Amino acid sequence: MQAFAQAQPNIALIKYWGKRDLELNLPAVGSISVTLDTLWTRTQVVFLDDAEEDLLILNGEPAAAEQQRRVSAYLDLMRAKAGVQTRARVDTENNFPTAAGLASSASGFAALTVASAEALGLALPPGELCELARQGSGSAPRSLFGGFVEMSRGRLDDGSDAVAHQILSPEEWPLEVVVALTSLSPKSVGSTAGMHRSQESSPFYEGWTRTADADLGEARVALASKDFDRLANVSEFSCLKMHAVALASRPPLIYWNPATLQALERVRQLRREGVPVFFTIDAGPQVKAISAPGYGGVVAKALGELDGVQDVTTSGLGPGARLIGS
Ligand code: DP6
Repeated sequence: MQAFAQAQPNIALIKYWGKRDLELNLPAVGSISVTLDTLWTRTQVVFLDDAEEDLLILNGEPAAAEQQRRVSAYLDLMRAKAGVQTRARVDTENNFPTAAGLASSASGFAALTVASAEALGLALPPGELCELARQGSGSAPRSLFGGFVEMSRGRLDDGSDAVAHQILSPEEWPLEVVVALTSLSPKSVGSTAGMHRSQESSPFYEGWTRTADADLGEARVALASKDFDRLANVSEFSCLKMHAVALASRPPLIYWNPATLQALERVRQLRREGVPVFFTIDAGPQVKAISAPGYGGVVAKALGELDGVQDVTTSGLGPGARLIGS
């Protein structure tokens, strides 16, 4: 009863922010992301007959109580599917900073879904894996797939249509992603709490949900025609609109620091100079620059030269979550 899986973080181009059902963790809006290749989470799950409690080890150390609880609650869903009570030891490792706005919850729950399903002998279709992963984290179903992925909002109350699917494989449009780290500390307000606050208090939240489908439609058209400028424009729009909703929450959610703005401006300048690149920012201060194939090096160099940028990581697009051993 053990398995080892790997998943990569994904970066949303069209953002998920807000929930239509808290209990089932159903998103209020659909989203479109790219799955990365060089950043990863590797997770081994071992179900042990004699264990009294679940144990989560994160990068070699026992994880914080809150993370233990979240993983244990998630394993309860998997155990209910398999009809067992057995507790598990989960060993998980990230090759990038946890909770710093790099979607560690997405790759974490995608890897945990694939590893725990295998360890419990559950052969589940992709839709069911999505439904499970989504209850761990709303962005996790997107990391089950590679390349460009759409996560549907769904219409049904039971969430069975709130699932993800691949739009384009990494090979079909091998864009490059440069992550500029502007801070290594964990973010102050996580996505779950942040989107809840926006939903409760931001006067722009209603406009956000009302206009989301138009952005998704435009991004789908851009992807179908591999129209970089069109994808760039709608992605930056979705990102800034999400941050406008967050900024107007009470109390405000200001995820940016001065270096975030510096990096954002540098990306805009590069684009004016003719480099095909655009920015996106999640619930944290890091700037992700997405470029056309072959431009990652130029972008990484430009962002790495900025004073406030601590580190840059370049990645291509990669595959979805998969088993890598036992
Ligand atoms: C800003 O998936 O972390 O990164 O469902 O509460 O776990 P929960 O939220 P999470 O939110 C991600 C928000 C975002 C945008 C995105 O990835 O679409």
